Amino acid sequence: MTLSRRKTLTLIGGGVILAATAGLGAIASRAPRTALLPWGQAGSGADARHRALSHALLAPNPHNRQPWLVDLREEGVVTLFVDTAKLLPHTDPFSRQITIGLGCFLELMRMAASQDGQRVTITPFPEGFDDRALDGRPVARAVFTADASVTPDPLFAHALERRSNKEPYDTARPLPADTLKKLDVATSVRFGGTLDPAEVAGWRALTREALRIEIETPHTYKESVDLFRIGWAEVDANPDGIDFTGPMFEVMAATGLFTRESAIDTGSQAYRAGLDAVYANADTAMGHVWLVTRTNSRADQIATGADWLRVNLAATAGGVAFQPLSQALQEYPEMAALYRDLHARLAPAGGTVQMFARIGFGPEVNPSPRWPLEAKIVHG
Ligand SMILES: Cc1cc2nc3c(=O)[nH]c(=O)nc-3n(C[C@H](O)[C@H](O)[C@H](O)COP(=O)(O)O)c2cc1C
Repeated sequence: MTLSRRKTLTLIGGGVILAATAGLGAIASRAPRTALLPWGQAGSGADARHRALSHALLAPNPHNRQPWLVDLREEGVVTLFVDTAKLLPHTDPFSRQITIGLGCFLELMRMAASQDGQRVTITPFPEGFDDRALDGRPVARAVFTADASVTPDPLFAHALERRSNKEPYDTARPLPADTLKKLDVATSVRFGGTLDPAEVAGWRALTREALRIEIETPHTYKESVDLFRIGWAEVDANPDGIDFTGPMFEVMAATGLFTRESAIDTGSQAYRAGLDAVYANADTAMGHVWLVTRTNSRADQIATGADWLRVNLAATAGGVAFQPLSQALQEYPEMAALYRDLHARLAPAGGTVQMFARIGFGPEVNPSPRWPLEAKIVHG
């Protein structure tokens, strides 16, 4: 679930906030202390694994939970685990999306390492897996080997500029006709997309309805609200989850206009503003892209993550804004009808739609917060 920051502000009452902002200058001008530092530290470290991992932790991942943990005790090897305290049991009951995020992490690690003259050989789930739940077994074993012949990936050049852009897109600027061709950089998973206005209108309506269901379903909405970090002090303390930052959010937090309690209260202005803000995102899609796998094993999900990262980087390269809209892909009962509808359209012969996103031209947005690498090494 994501709220467009600007739209929320407008809807909650920009005038009141602006007046308050003027009087609460010190609060309004709060800035991040630590939450964005990892973006500047990417590529640093004495060991090739640290250098690659400092990039990997900038990977896209559901609700920015950053569920990765690494064990570095074995020389030249990264053993990746999932932090089972950071799953999303309501919206991602089988941890399919969490696994995709771990696939994004591994691909970014691989790309960063190849830039650094290291070949990385990845074995997903070396001790096996459970289809329905992630557990304490390793998600992957990655062996680093110095190899001067390794080919760097040109997409890696865009890694630090990549963002999930959760603002409304410009409906007056259609995407160039060759956009989908440029975004089709998937290596093993089936890529699809549309820029056709009639189809886009259909997907706008479906994604809007899926957002409505997720927000109006108390247990799935609460899972998101519990992860709201409002203002830089909260974000610095917990640089993950769904962040709301900037002068107006600082003031709204300080004045009690926007809190987790008001966001969950369906009678509040904050709740209605949030709903309208997410609709504004769905409604301004200028195209859609998706990835489909034939089967839905854990290995398929890891492969989806790798290809999703690549598509995301290709969009960044082309200046195309990108936001996953995962709601209709989620496997909880209240979403079942839309899940079936979407699959009937995109995978009529069977298969799993693993990712779905809107694309368009959007405003520039900040990078999202991250925990530093030290917080993610379980054994150094
Ligand atoms: C599997 C997966 C599902 C996601 N689903 C959504 C979504 O439904 N809505 C959304 O706004 N962002 C979604 N995202 C994007 C994440 O919220 C985003 O990657 C995370 O907040 C970190 O921000 P960044 O990508 O700008 O670094 C998804 C990402 C992944 C990997």
